[in-house]
Amino acid sequence: MIADSFGRVHDYLRISLTDNCNFRCFYCMPEEEYDFTPASRLMQTQEIIQLAKIFVAQGVKKIRLTGGEPLVRKDAAEIISALGKLPVELVMTTNGTRIAEMLPVLKEAGIKTINISLDTLQPEKFFMITRRDLFHQIRANIELLLQHKIKVKINMVVMKGLNDLEITDFITWTKHNPIQIRFIEFMPFSGNKWTSNKMFSLEEILAAIEKDFTVLPVKAEPNDTAKSFMIPGHEGSFAIISTMTAPFCSTCNRMRLTADGKLKNCLFSDGETDLLSALRKQEDVLPLIRASIWSKKKELGGQLTTHFEKLEADLIHNRSMITIGG
Ligand code: GTP
Ligand code: 5AD
Ligand code: SF4
Repeated sequence: MIADSFGRVHDYLRISLTDNCNFRCFYCMPEEEYDFTPASRLMQTQEIIQLAKIFVAQGVKKIRLTGGEPLVRKDAAEIISALGKLPVELVMTTNGTRIAEMLPVLKEAGIKTINISLDTLQPEKFFMITRRDLFHQIRANIELLLQHKIKVKINMVVMKGLNDLEITDFITWTKHNPIQIRFIEFMPFSGNKWTSNKMFSLEEILAAIEKDFTVLPVKAEPNDTAKSFMIPGHEGSFAIISTMTAPFCSTCNRMRLTADGKLKNCLFSDGETDLLSALRKQEDVLPLIRASIWSKKKELGGQLTTHFEKLEADLIHNRSMITIGG
């Protein structure tokens, strides 16, 4: 078992396979030209599998593959197949571009839920956000997943003035589709130009939906990042991830392994533990993992307060989102 000093058991590991991505979303990566980490500095296939096994032996029950975009990694299929054999729930967060060609591998590995990042239902705006003209491909891939009975959650980062007026369009999408839309409060990361006035809060999201729909709360699972809701008569549902205005740190069970093999004990932690170097020197990584998680702060990496109005983006001494994986 891996636990922190507040008694939180950590049994959910997020592994970033790469900081490379075939999209260029401004809220996720720095504006200036970004150099993706060279392959030699990334965890190699066998190193990922070896580290995953160490975590699983310590009670990890769920592994999420993230990026960048996890499916752009050349050996993604090999990694997914190997992790699929471990006694864990294997899930993934992806931009959805490579779903069609990877579907057999995903199914074979027993992946039952996929979270897809999609911030707009308008093709032109999609291009504006991602710099790629692939909206229709993503929509088709979402349909494909549903046809194959893979559960789909849509991650929609809500940004004021950009896509907040689309919230009800996303809700309408859930009427005849068994998807869950997760509206996410925009979070500050290095280089992503976050300001509090671009943020659309839990309260504002709920108010926008309640104007047109009847909303009922749904009981949360013990370690949920999202507060869940349903709308009577809708096949799908929605949820809100409110890191900024109503953090959910008291039930945090998440550890993050970056693509270059560093353990982050919190999305907002500035400290990192270099597991990959230790592994390459054939040192025992378990004490390092334990120490890292034990030293985890009570909430938000101990850096932020919920008085986010006072925050400036340059106060966030963190990696950019693309190198953490969410
Ligand atoms: P489920 O396992 O399906 O609930 O997914 P998830 O919410 O754990 O992961 P996903 O990769 O879909 O992330 C959705 C959003 O939640 C992203 O904006 C993440 O940055 C954010 N998120 C995920 N885990 C955490 C966390 O531990 N803390 C905070 N503050 N945000 C998180
Ligand atoms: N704030 C909130 N969520 C973000 N994501 C990426 N950048 C941000 C941000 N600045 C989300 C993406 C992706 C998930 C892993 O993290 O929507 O689905
Ligand atoms: Fe856990 Fe840090 Fe996220 Fe809070 S902000 S839920 S402590 S990872």
